[in-house]
Amino acid sequence: MDAIDVIVTKRDGGELSREQISWMIGAYTRGEVAEEQMAALAMAILLNGMTRREIADWTAAMIDSGERMDWSVLDRPTADKHSTGGVGDKITLPLAPLVAACGAYVPQLSGRGLGHTGGTLDKLESIPGWRASLSTGEMLDVLRAAGAVVCAAGSGLAPADRKLYALRDVTGTVESIPLIASSIMSKKIAEGTGSLVLDVKVGSGAFMKTPERARELARTMVELGTDAGVRTVALLTAMDRPLGRAVGNALEVAEAVEVLAGGGPSDVVELTVRLAREMLAAAGLDGAKDPADALADGSAMDVWRRMIAAQGGDPDAPLPRAAETTTVTAPASGVLVRLDAYAVGMAAWRLGAGRARKEDPVSHAAGVTVHVKPGETVREGAPLLTLHADDPARFPRALEALEDAWAIVPDGEPDLLPLIIDR
Ligand code: URA
Repeated sequence: MDAIDVIVTKRDGGELSREQISWMIGAYTRGEVAEEQMAALAMAILLNGMTRREIADWTAAMIDSGERMDWSVLDRPTADKHSTGGVGDKITLPLAPLVAACGAYVPQLSGRGLGHTGGTLDKLESIPGWRASLSTGEMLDVLRAAGAVVCAAGSGLAPADRKLYALRDVTGTVESIPLIASSIMSKKIAEGTGSLVLDVKVGSGAFMKTPERARELARTMVELGTDAGVRTVALLTAMDRPLGRAVGNALEVAEAVEVLAGGGPSDVVELTVRLAREMLAAAGLDGAKDPADALADGSAMDVWRRMIAAQGGDPDAPLPRAAETTTVTAPASGVLVRLDAYAVGMAAWRLGAGRARKEDPVSHAAGVTVHVKPGETVREGAPLLTLHADDPARFPRALEALEDAWAIVPDGEPDLLPLIIDR
């Protein structure tokens, strides 16, 4: 087999055979195919697409590049969810303990933020002592102790994806639906969950800007999961405005704890409960306790505390707070009709909540508090947004990102995507 033949086949609009795909991914993982050759193939895939069969073979080859986890020793079904990423999307934090409180095991491998979207591990690491890296044996111990575990994927899980994702990131080839779907699903299938709910975000703050592209990605991922024997469901949900009122690592942990305590912003609560019901149904636990009850009676909070403590964290420790804050106030009274998710995500990123390169540290305290959500009224001079940073030198560029981010009109309704667009 020869890398150039594989690249030329796809460049000329041909269909790659299973043998070509499995050879290419294996040889690339072993370092026998050059980065520039894989970059050329990724670009040919982005431009010419892949058939359903090719995407399934590509995903299988990525899974085969590493280990597969197995939770069959557990006595209850496993369920997981994956979000394609957004601004203020802290849903995993209340969701994993909530679903565990209703009877499923939740073994969740999560990621870090890159660019304007946040990462679950960065958020949880703002809890003093909490550890993201666990061995498979430690994951099992946390699952048995708490029912849910959220941790980093080990280097043995889909190593081909790890290499390819880094390459796509610097070659303009991230936005290919076959490559995104196979990247996400190879890791989720290798993780060994029995069922999976996908939260595919739509809007300015998401990878997929339109419902049409999001629907195509969702359908591709559901087909991949179903074909691999994982019961898979996808929701399309809004990311045209930030989710909840907190954007940034420790700020989002605090908001997640509010939800677990029975409060929190209504959009975060609604999406958490809906995803929990979908996960329980996908896991075959339709008759289980209702997630809304598990939030109200404190049982989800009990699981959260056990889960954090089992990973070395102190659930009672104060969260980091930023040394500096500055507030954006409303220049006029009226209704906030727009608050752009991408702009708020960029502002949080520039305040230090995200990283520019994989190896950069994040500020746990940095971020944005949203005082007024689209559809709410505000009085002239009242706070709209509070910016939090460790270093005030970060404020000017964050404020620049927010310049055209919002609109207040004397009277009117916001033109927003429904929170849950489709299933
Ligand atoms: N998340 C992933 O894991 N992979 C992609 O390609 C995009 C988002």
